[in-house]
Amino acid sequence: MLVVGAAGKTGRAVTSALAARDVQVRAALHSAARSGEAYAAGARSVAVVDLTTGSGLDEALVGVDAVYHLAPNVHPDEVGIARRVAKAAVRAGVERFAFHSVLHPDDTSMPHHLRKAEAEEVVRAVVPTATVLRPAAYHQNLLGAAMAGSMAVPYSLDAPFSNVDLGDLAEVAAEALTTAGHEGRTHELAGPEVLSVRDQAAVAAQVLGRRVEAIRIDIEAWSAGPGAGLDRQARADLLAMFASYDRSGLVGDPSVLADLLGRRPRTWADALRPS
Ligand SMILES: NC(=O)c1ccc[n+]([C@@H]2O[C@H](COP(=O)([O-])OP(=O)(O)OC[C@H]3O[C@@H](n4cnc5c(N)ncnc54)[C@H](OP(=O)(O)O)[C@@H]3O)[C@@H](O)[C@H]2O)c1
Repeated sequence: MLVVGAAGKTGRAVTSALAARDVQVRAALHSAARSGEAYAAGARSVAVVDLTTGSGLDEALVGVDAVYHLAPNVHPDEVGIARRVAKAAVRAGVERFAFHSVLHPDDTSMPHHLRKAEAEEVVRAVVPTATVLRPAAYHQNLLGAAMAGSMAVPYSLDAPFSNVDLGDLAEVAAEALTTAGHEGRTHELAGPEVLSVRDQAAVAAQVLGRRVEAIRIDIEAWSAGPGAGLDRQARADLLAMFASYDRSGLVGDPSVLADLLGRRPRTWADALRPS
């Protein structure tokens, strides 16, 4: 199976979940320099592709039965990338295709969500049997900060989120690619609890047994700090996302994930405990 973006945070998790099922994974990478990360996650081979031009895709898909496609975060050409990967998968005759979307892709307040909605349409038009996963934000986004004792975000500390565990998401991805019954379906993947960043810090303090603070940083400080290295569009996408989080957080239906996993999904406290 080919995992696109396999050296990234999500791609490594999906690669590991597939490798745990003895699936031979080929990692599609932007640069061979990240091969070590893909092999460490369990990939058996690597292929270098450029998603913005499609170069390397046909070669990467030789002998491949199934594809997990995810786009680089807030990429301006998300829709074109989805079209290129889906068409190449059809050319190669793959049996299964899964697309990594996002929770509430039709939320008009977030341009990068709308690009995912359009990418979903493109994928479904090219591969009608594709499975679409719509994950909430991951527990793992704030795990490092919680471990370090300071969770600083540029949006309301009281906004509600039903975050999902990356391991649970990867397990669903592996299930969708290796078992029948997911063809043409869309799975909304929200975690089992609704917590604000302030709640998450309190849970982290309890689980870790040390002080964990939640801090709201202002948008100007974010733009001059973590956001400074981003290009204009990525920064604008994320600023729109923070404004949306401020208004309503990001909450989804928790029932689907539990049904798909056949067990209780991992909570924020579970993510904080070493497995
Ligand atoms: N984080 C969340 O909570 C969350 C929730 C729901 C959905 N998502 C979605 O999940 C997706 C993946 O997020 P992530 O955080 O796992 O991303 P990531 O860690 O940034 O990984 C993206 C991968 O894509 C590769 N890449 C970038 N440009 C490329 C190109 N032109 N050709 C080929 N490969 C290229 C990157 O390789 P290099 O680094 O080597 O360039 C990287 O390995 C995004 O679409 C995001 O919207 C994320």
